[in-house]
Amino acid sequence: MPTERTHLLPKTRSSFLSHNVTRTLPFALLVLVIYSVAFYLLWTYDPYAKRPLPPLTGRFIHITDIHPDPYYITNGTAKSSCHNAGEENIDDGFRTTKKPKYMRMGRGGVWGAPATVCDSSMKMVNYTFEWLKENWRDKVDFVIWTGDNSRHDKDIPRSKEEVFNLNRMVAQKFIDAFSDPETGQLSVPVIPSIGNNDMHPSNRIGPGPNEILDTLADIWSPFIPPTQQHVFRRGGYFVKEVIPDRLIVISLNTLAFYKANKASDGCSNTNDAGSRQLRWMEEILRRARTRDMKAYIIGHVAPRRKQYMSSCFKKYGRIALKFHDMILGHHFGHSNLDHFFFISAKAVVDSPSDDTTELGVADEDDKVDSVENNNSDSHINGTSNPLNATRDDKRVYAYAYEEYAEKLLEHYRSVPPLQMLNPEEYTVIHINPSIIPTFFPSLRVFHYNKTENWMNAAEISRDTADEFYTELDEDDISDDKDDDMHSTRGKRSKHRHDPKSPSHTNTFLTALGYTQYFVNLTKANEYPNTKPSWDVEYTTQETYGMRDLTIDSWIKLARKIAKDGMSGFLWKKVQGHMLVGTTEIIKERERMGLQRLNGGKGDKGPMDYIMSELEF
Ligand SMILES: *[C@@H]1O[C@H](CO)[C@@H](O)[C@H](O)[C@H]1NC(C)=O
Ligand SMILES: *[C@@H]1O[C@H](CO)[C@@H](O)[C@H](O)[C@H]1NC(C)=O
Ligand SMILES: *[C@@H]1O[C@H](CO)[C@@H](O)[C@H](O)[C@H]1NC(C)=O
Ligand SMILES: *[C@@H]1O[C@H](CO)[C@@H](O)[C@H](O)[C@H]1NC(C)=O
Ligand SMILES: *[C@@H]1O[C@H](CO)[C@@H](O)[C@H](O)[C@H]1NC(C)=O
Ligand SMILES: *[C@@H]1O[C@H](CO)[C@@H](O)[C@H](O)[C@H]1NC(C)=O
Ligand SMILES: *[C@@H]1O[C@H](CO)[C@@H](O)[C@H](O)[C@H]1NC(C)=O
Repeated sequence: MPTERTHLLPKTRSSFLSHNVTRTLPFALLVLVIYSVAFYLLWTYDPYAKRPLPPLTGRFIHITDIHPDPYYITNGTAKSSCHNAGEENIDDGFRTTKKPKYMRMGRGGVWGAPATVCDSSMKMVNYTFEWLKENWRDKVDFVIWTGDNSRHDKDIPRSKEEVFNLNRMVAQKFIDAFSDPETGQLSVPVIPSIGNNDMHPSNRIGPGPNEILDTLADIWSPFIPPTQQHVFRRGGYFVKEVIPDRLIVISLNTLAFYKANKASDGCSNTNDAGSRQLRWMEEILRRARTRDMKAYIIGHVAPRRKQYMSSCFKKYGRIALKFHDMILGHHFGHSNLDHFFFISAKAVVDSPSDDTTELGVADEDDKVDSVENNNSDSHINGTSNPLNATRDDKRVYAYAYEEYAEKLLEHYRSVPPLQMLNPEEYTVIHINPSIIPTFFPSLRVFHYNKTENWMNAAEISRDTADEFYTELDEDDISDDKDDDMHSTRGKRSKHRHDPKSPSHTNTFLTALGYTQYFVNLTKANEYPNTKPSWDVEYTTQETYGMRDLTIDSWIKLARKIAKDGMSGFLWKKVQGHMLVGTTEIIKERERMGLQRLNGGKGDKGPMDYIMSELEF
């Protein structure tokens, strides 16, 4: 062998070359290939390019106001919040100023007590999550969940520990329902938001760090991204990227804006917790826009004049309008009533006279709200006969259907036709109905356009995800001098508007519709040993004839309702949906109540309850 090798040694230059070429050519080619691949990669590599779209189902769920009650008993009286099965007729002395009489009548069944003050039975809560797990675990891309995970405490006082424990229990139920069965890890992003009953005492929360936010941050650590933990511990809000490089969900701490929160200063001064939160939200939206991302905004208490401090309401509204082209929806809970309303540019214009009076004036409704969960509920005295009531008094009496209907219709009627509107002049706010059976338990499954348009996808983002998530110091963000606000009156806004934005046109990420599911508790209670069914109550596509859920489509729907008028088919449907199928139960109880109470002295009726919630 060695001889042969020697023999093969090159003897001349040419043979040396030829030999070397044969030996090194594959190597050279390899090097060339490596170089060209590297060069190609370098050439095409863009650190800011969007990550590829993961497989999407094109659906998400909104669930809210679960209010589980471990003290709930079957056959308990509504009067005792379903805690006691004693005589129904005994006046237990318990009254709330807010809830109408019909809600304190009757007894609860195994699955719940529809249209009463009772919280959710544990059986119903457990079953709901079972149903979610069986039917939706791998069929949705994310879940939004807008608070109130503990029971009320009208009679049995609640402790701080109990509120946190109920929150732990509900959080665990989300993890169980939306986890990979193999790994036990959450497989669908779930985005919680703080409710006014997720703290003790209820409604009251100041800026963090504090015990409430620290405890919730721990309980919600599977849901809050690690990079957002400190943001949450400080303010109770956070952002979560639910579709990489495409979609974020901003979870707000609406308690900071809520009139009933005595520990909140509002949003008048730069340093108020509410102002800081809204500045943070605006900055997140601005950064998301530079990355061509879209957003959902979620929270517990919806932005309304009646419930938000005026400075907060206006600032919120202005940001909502400014980012109208990239906010795909504003989804809230708290009010239990399924409905939608608009925030218009006119409603959020700054007027100094408003701002000076706002903080001192807590209106009647919010005073009531703040005692809602107070176990020392005050008694209210019946006043004079309802038939003699003036128009102003009327709202405290039952059966003011017409007045309520007028009010909401008035709001819808005030909406101008689309062709007369600048896109940044109107936005729509949604209230999702609840699991707590204030009416029948319900939730929504949304579907959206999951087809990414390649022309749009070519746009690259300019911030990396990490930059996007870095802590924002609100003090460094200049307070937007609301340049858009004044321009919305008459003049066109100066910031760009993309006519192809998914909040106005059906394109990638546009919400296309929702299906509202509900449980008919009357029926369910007739079969105590059978799991009830979650049935479709209605769909936006078939019931309302909506092609998609763009702002434009909601404006069209409102105008259609208004045009049909009070006796119109559509309006009847909308009203029925507001009470999630319980209209008949409520009417029947009213009739009984009327007989029994000889006029329902001083009590509110269902429509007054609704009306006190609605103010535009
Ligand atoms: C519910 O309680 C009442 C009063 O104690 C009783 O008369 C009635 O039979 C009970 N109903 C059921 C279904 O247990
Ligand atoms: C509901 O689930 C919880 C655990 O999450 C359990 O402790 C409780 O016993 C269940 N209640 C009912 C009525 O099934
Ligand atoms: C409950 O109401 C009583 C009487 O109105 C009041 O003194 C008390 O401070 C309230 N408690 C809470 C926690 O709001
Ligand atoms: C309610 O009525 C009682 C007895 O008629 C009276 O003493 C009390 O002052 C009244 N309370 C209010 C708030 O009007
Ligand atoms: C209305 O008030 C008048 C005078 O105050 C009284 O005579 C009349 O009976 C009242 N009507 C009803 C229905 O109470
Ligand atoms: C989704 O949007 C694209 C335009 O980007 C459109 O062509 C397509 O029809 C939409 N899909 C649905 C299901 O509406
Ligand atoms: C609920 O079920 C009851 C009893 O089966 C039925 O009478 C009622 O019409 C149902 N209501 C709705 C809204 O489905």
